[in-house]
Amino acid sequence: MRSVTSTVPEWKTVKTTVAVVIVFGLFGLKAGWPQESAQPRIDEEFTKQEKIYRSRGADVPSGYVTGRGLSDYAELLPTGFCDALGRLGSSDRWLDIGAGAAQAILDYYAPEGDAPSGEKCLRTGARARAVAMSIEERRTDNWRQRAASLGDDRIRYLAGKRLRQYSPEELGKFQIITDVFGGFSYTEDLSQFVDKVLSLLEVGGGFYTLVPGVHLEDGKEKLGILYLTELEDAAGRPEKVCSWLKKIACVQVTCESKSDWKRPTELINIRKVCSDVSVPRMKLVEFEAGYPPGRRFQLEP
Ligand SMILES: C[S@@+](CC[C@H](N)C(=O)[O-])C[C@H]1O[C@@H](n2cnc3c(N)ncnc32)[C@H](O)[C@@H]1O
Repeated sequence: MRSVTSTVPEWKTVKTTVAVVIVFGLFGLKAGWPQESAQPRIDEEFTKQEKIYRSRGADVPSGYVTGRGLSDYAELLPTGFCDALGRLGSSDRWLDIGAGAAQAILDYYAPEGDAPSGEKCLRTGARARAVAMSIEERRTDNWRQRAASLGDDRIRYLAGKRLRQYSPEELGKFQIITDVFGGFSYTEDLSQFVDKVLSLLEVGGGFYTLVPGVHLEDGKEKLGILYLTELEDAAGRPEKVCSWLKKIACVQVTCESKSDWKRPTELINIRKVCSDVSVPRMKLVEFEAGYPPGRRFQLEP
């Protein structure tokens, strides 16, 4: 079973290989765990998870990384993300869910000539309006200064709530939504999360994300895997995250399986192609706090 106090940052754990030979399930106690005990245990884990979100300064676990920049996003998100971002015009909108300190948006809005050479995905000329969302407030002085100098609501930072708690009017619609180790990896209600994301996307828009520690679409993961997000169908048979996503109406889903990263990771692009989106519902059956947490979901019949 994974450890909540593991200090390996998500960033450092991707792209290294492992050579352990035991196959781990998500939760050592999965089999035979009595139904009536599950909810108090899950509630305890939710409390631990809240502590991770609320941690400040030296108390932030070193594995809870909140400062990835745009270059990191370019490396971690599916092919096509930078091009799609580059095509946005000044009246278009980009939402970054689980933005942490929102460094990726700050990099996107770096004054021309200020960006370190070799930075990926940078942009000159027109830039879209950008909204950073985080459960906890992690805005920096840098952000405040940049937001003030840009004016006109070009960049916004939303904190204090989860994605599902915002009304459609509060957020509006977006051409691009990203999530790098944000809500998609952390939420306790994955189907509701995806439903909400898709409701905020314009038809033709794209959601770019990744999910570590999953059964890969290409089935090439190695032995010795520590799974973080496990799905099962209504009969309890394993389901892959990509096959579940491909059951959603009105979207085109592309998955890039990364079997050579430390944790088998799926890079996911979902393009909304019509408005009647319908996401097959899943319920949470197990949760273990962490960064990201361990989760097991079951599809509802
Ligand atoms: C590990 S940090 C990642 C930050 C940033 N994307 C990065 O890569 O540096 C996780 C972020 O996801 C946010 N988060 C988790 N679940 C969320 C949800 N359901 N809605 C909004 N934000 C969420 C957390 O508040 C935090 O900002």
